[in-house]
Amino acid sequence: MCGIVGFTGAEQAAPILLEGLRRLEYRGYDSAGLAVENGGRITVVKASVPVTKEDSSLITLTRRTDDGKNVPGTCGISHTRWATHGAPTDYNSHPHMSCDGRFAIVHNGIIENYVTLRQELVEKGYEFASETDSEVVAHLLEMYYEGDFKAAVMKTVARLEGAYALGIVCSEHPGTLYAVRMASPLILGAGKGENFFASDVTALVSHTRNVIYLEDGEFACLTPESITVYAPDGAEVEKQISVVEWDVETASKGGYEHFMLKEIMEQPKAIKNAIDPRLKGSEIVFEDMSLTDEDIKNIDRIIITACGSASYAGQVGRYVIEKLCRIPVSVELASELRYSDPIITDRTLLIVISQSGETADTKAALEECKARGAKVLGIINVVGSSIARLCNDVLYNWAGPEIAVATTKGYTTQVALLYMFAVYAAKVRGTIDREEYATCVDAIKALPEQAQRAVDINPDVAKTAKKYYDQEHIFFIGRNIDYAVSLEGSLKLKEISYLHSEAYPAGELKHGPIALINDGRLVVALCCYDELFDKMLSNIKEVRARGARVLAVAAEGDDRVLSEADDVIRVPAAHELFGAIGEVVPLQLFAYYVARENGCSIDKPKNLAKSVTVE
Ligand code: F6R
Repeated sequence: MCGIVGFTGAEQAAPILLEGLRRLEYRGYDSAGLAVENGGRITVVKASVPVTKEDSSLITLTRRTDDGKNVPGTCGISHTRWATHGAPTDYNSHPHMSCDGRFAIVHNGIIENYVTLRQELVEKGYEFASETDSEVVAHLLEMYYEGDFKAAVMKTVARLEGAYALGIVCSEHPGTLYAVRMASPLILGAGKGENFFASDVTALVSHTRNVIYLEDGEFACLTPESITVYAPDGAEVEKQISVVEWDVETASKGGYEHFMLKEIMEQPKAIKNAIDPRLKGSEIVFEDMSLTDEDIKNIDRIIITACGSASYAGQVGRYVIEKLCRIPVSVELASELRYSDPIITDRTLLIVISQSGETADTKAALEECKARGAKVLGIINVVGSSIARLCNDVLYNWAGPEIAVATTKGYTTQVALLYMFAVYAAKVRGTIDREEYATCVDAIKALPEQAQRAVDINPDVAKTAKKYYDQEHIFFIGRNIDYAVSLEGSLKLKEISYLHSEAYPAGELKHGPIALINDGRLVVALCCYDELFDKMLSNIKEVRARGARVLAVAAEGDDRVLSEADDVIRVPAAHELFGAIGEVVPLQLFAYYVARENGCSIDKPKNLAKSVTVE
């Protein structure tokens, strides 16, 4: 939700800021803007245009500034917006200026008390140029400024409630930036004779891999030569520099038309990165895990919480953990769990899943359950993210940066780690024997190959997509793990192609949704869960009898469904419990090609953003 970048150094700032925004565009793309200080003046340029294949706010901003070349100055801030307060227009775009032109600010998050602050400022004569919550920050800075930049920042921040990562530049303090973090991500980048801040490391790695993670409430003063971090009371804080492992190559398209396709194709490697370091011979080993065997034996309930696709990965995990560990597992959407007065005991394990590690609802649900005594295990991709830092233990995905808004390798690596945890916990609890354990570990070792084979055996998925790209309504059906996978297959399709698609447990269809099945309606039927194959076949017959066209998703070599299907997507043969990755990969490809056929903006679907840091 919004991306911010700041730079101060010897080089011209605007081209660097634009490059940073390009890497953060996945966080929001309703508008883009920058503010650069030069010789005691601040220049602001903004753009807000809808994303099309040819244009975007950032492309327009780049054009307006001639690639940044026509904005002089070596110190500035920039922003890419996902609109919350106020429509996506030029005037609502960041940066926002104070009336006296001294301050420009960029903001990611929500200032919850902005209505009161705005009223107070208006009464004092400050004029607002936007409908945003963020603009109050610029006017508060002006109100509190008496020549001391730091003091004005502290007084301003003391008035704010809510979530905010702020970047601030002041015309009277050339070369100096302030960065503030409260419940929204913000990372500092330490270079040589130049320093940066950004919402995410991907915007920094082409300049420096040395980063400083700010804690909530901390703020920093950046000049070309120094970074000083302060606690909320203004006292200096000693911070460690961490070295990021990602490089520029991993954050670029590498010859693919879209990040999403690149990330789909990267999955075998990403899964390998997630599992290999945790396999020692034929043993699953979680190094540095504070959860002891005794703790694991003691668990009497697991709650998995997450949002969107991450929760659907959790749905796969639920079936597998329950089957192997015999522990009741519920998957709770974080936005619901946080307000549900959850029942937690010291025997509850909370598994929190988040690719970005910044999702506001997931973070809040975690905090709620942890406060009530749950032990928290995170499955998180972004190292050092807010959620990761709150967990008792973290299994990092190590999937590398995921740039496309629709998750692919994030999801499959989450599933792989849930598998590993399920098998590990089952062994500790003695609910599987040595032989079953060895079979499960072999199935996990085969996951990278499974993901690769899922691509290899579906060379015609683009042709299949071409056949169905113009459907208005699509149903995904499945049972058990197939149902869990169908949730993800359906979400992938709807979010990037804008076709209406719903997933149902196949047995539930006749309790209502079957009323929507009529001539030509596409039903994607997942029939890989062998134990329930016959039941699925009956459900397929029911929809066919009502005129539906059926795209079956079936294991390679299994031809039992062919007589009832119009088309088939093939899934690599796998252990019954560990086949979800091989099933979802062709569905990701199907969604990708349907969206491409429809000319959609695949990496940046409309209305979405990668990192949902607002409620
Ligand atoms: C869909 C998608 C979202 C995310 C959800 C949670 O493709 O990416 O549904 O899964 O917003 O995000 P994280 O995993 O970052 O918490």
